[in-house]
Amino acid sequence: MPCFAAMATRRRASPTQTRAPVRDARLRRLLVAALAARQRAWAPYSNYQVGAAVLGDDGRVYAGCNVENGSYGACLCAERNAVGQAIARGARRILAAVVVTPSSPPAPPCGICLQTFAEFADGSLPVLLANPEDEERRFTLDELLPHRFDASALPG
Ligand code: THU
Repeated sequence: MPCFAAMATRRRASPTQTRAPVRDARLRRLLVAALAARQRAWAPYSNYQVGAAVLGDDGRVYAGCNVENGSYGACLCAERNAVGQAIARGARRILAAVVVTPSSPPAPPCGICLQTFAEFADGSLPVLLANPEDEERRFTLDELLPHRFDASALPG
C-alpha cells in the first residue's frame, strides 16, 4: 500500500513533468488533500479514481472525489465535488486547485469542471495536475480553458 502523504512530499524528477515539482506550500497542502480524497473515490464502473482539492478564499482546503452512479449520467466529478464543498461551506472564490488522476501524464479536468472552476476563479487560477507516481503538470485556468463562457455574455 503506497503512502500517499509521503508521495506528496517527495520530489523525484519525471520525464513528463512540464515544470519543476511544485514548491508552493499552498499547492502541496492541496495535493495531500486531493490524494487522500482520491482514496475515497466511488468509481466501481470506470475504476478511474480521481481526487481534487481547492483552496477557498476563506483560507480553507476543500477536497472531493468522483462519485459514480449506476445511472452513468448521474456521475459526479471530483473537481465539482470539491468546489461544491467549498461553496456550501461559505467560500466565494477559489484560489488554487489540484487534481489527482491515475493517468500518465496526469489528465486535465473535463470541460464541465473547468467551466465550474471558471465560475469561481479568474484565469490566473493555478491548476496542478498530478498522479500517484509523482508526475506533476502545472497550468493556469486560462491555459486549460482559454475561451470560456461567462456571465458577461448573458443579456442584461
Ligand atoms: N472524472 C473526474 O472526476 N474528473 C474529471 O475531470 C474527468 C473525469 C471522473 C468521472 C468518472 O467517474 C471517471 O472519472 C471516468 O470518467
